[in-house]
Amino acid sequence: MATNFVTVTDHKSGKSVELEVMEPTQGSPIIDLRALHRELGLYAYDPGFTVTASCWSEITYLDGENGLLQYRGYPIEQLVEHSSFIETCFLLLCGHLPTAAELELFSAEVTRESLLQEEMKRFFEGFRSNAHPMAIMVGVVGALSAFYHDFQDIRDPKNRKLSAKLLIAKMPTIAAWSYRYANGLPFEYPRSDYSYVENFLHMMFSLPTVDYKPEPLFVRALEVVMIAHADHEQNASTSTVRLAGSSEANPFASIAAGIASLWGPAHGGANEAVIRMLMEMRDTGKPMQHYVDRAKDKKDRFRLMGFGHRIYKNYDPRAKILRDLCYQVVEKCEMGGENRKLLELALELETLALKDDYFKQRKLYPNVDFYSGIILLTIGIPLNMFTVIFAMARTVGWISQWNEMMGDANSKIGRPRQLYVGAKHRDYQPVWQREPADE
Ligand code: ACO
Repeated sequence: MATNFVTVTDHKSGKSVELEVMEPTQGSPIIDLRALHRELGLYAYDPGFTVTASCWSEITYLDGENGLLQYRGYPIEQLVEHSSFIETCFLLLCGHLPTAAELELFSAEVTRESLLQEEMKRFFEGFRSNAHPMAIMVGVVGALSAFYHDFQDIRDPKNRKLSAKLLIAKMPTIAAWSYRYANGLPFEYPRSDYSYVENFLHMMFSLPTVDYKPEPLFVRALEVVMIAHADHEQNASTSTVRLAGSSEANPFASIAAGIASLWGPAHGGANEAVIRMLMEMRDTGKPMQHYVDRAKDKKDRFRLMGFGHRIYKNYDPRAKILRDLCYQVVEKCEMGGENRKLLELALELETLALKDDYFKQRKLYPNVDFYSGIILLTIGIPLNMFTVIFAMARTVGWISQWNEMMGDANSKIGRPRQLYVGAKHRDYQPVWQREPADE
């Protein structure tokens, strides 16, 4: 039973409505706006959904003011320390940590489904050899719906779980094959004796002539990067998946929509953009203050990539985890040498920005993308694969959120309103009567 209400009065009509204030298990209370139109004939305006909850969810909680992130209640710091990516997948999808037997079965099922249908190879071959791997991902993941349509009764929870497992299982193969094709290399098949992350590295780097032995430090580092990226409640790509799925579109098409949304530099594409920015800083040798000043200049479109977040107004807990990991990977690895300079520049930039009033006032801190790129680069992952790895890790979050929405009998097709500011009614004129429009 609601204990709190907010009263909204329309001073034009003199009518009021009491709106229920809903209490979450954690976080800020939420006003239920649904009576607004019914009682007052009003809608709410909130471009970019800055204060609007689009759904309820039990999956991920984040507190941006205090820099907290939890999956199903478990703090991210505990998960990166004790869990594996595949266990985190189970947790996000099923809602609880698996028993040993559940984990073994889940891992075996995922490994069994990691092969792609042989005909799917032709999809890769249809792309230009210089295609961005994200372009290949969007196309191939969407195309999965053409191969797995037998169980597309998505109202059946068993089918939804099955398609979730299929997607989680096939994503590393699709991701690695996007890279192999773009580099003129033969496709490498997954192996049943490798873990999820080992398999991805094997499919990326093994050659017919030399077997790649996944380096334990790299496997652990990638595992941590993937756990840190696995879900992040209603961000742009997850909301895209939910919106696409709300029309009952099939899960593969809905996830392809999420991948497209993730690609942009304001979202998942930022990890690639951060490295390009740090490389430019290294190559030009300009003082760091030059870039901080550019980021503050409103006439310049340049922004510090990997800085700022819609929700975090404090240090992103994932950035903290990845900064520590970055030191370890770069320090312990011989190949890290050339990336040490990038890490030094990142640290210098962070120190300078965090002391600057512009960044302090706006509460702009490093986000998850700020340090992840240096780790990936040290592992040997090429720059244009960074966002692909983000997509591979986020697939479990997307599909868990989609599954939650589809399991809710009250879910509706997503359909926002608008504030129309265009022309009022006007009558059609024949072409010879028209004046040129002002540009
Ligand atoms: N560099 C310089 N100024 C910034 C930055 C930045 N990276 N980020 C935000 N600002 C400024 C804005 O110009 C704005 O200033 P103003 O109030 O004077 O107009 C203020 O901070 C608020 O920024 P908004 O763009 O309104 O914040 P919003 O929540 O809409 O955007 C976003 C968040 C897109 C992440 C933004 O901070 C950004 O573009 N960051 C750089 C790209 C990036 O790192 N993206 C990855 C995000 S994490 C993820 O998606 C996985």
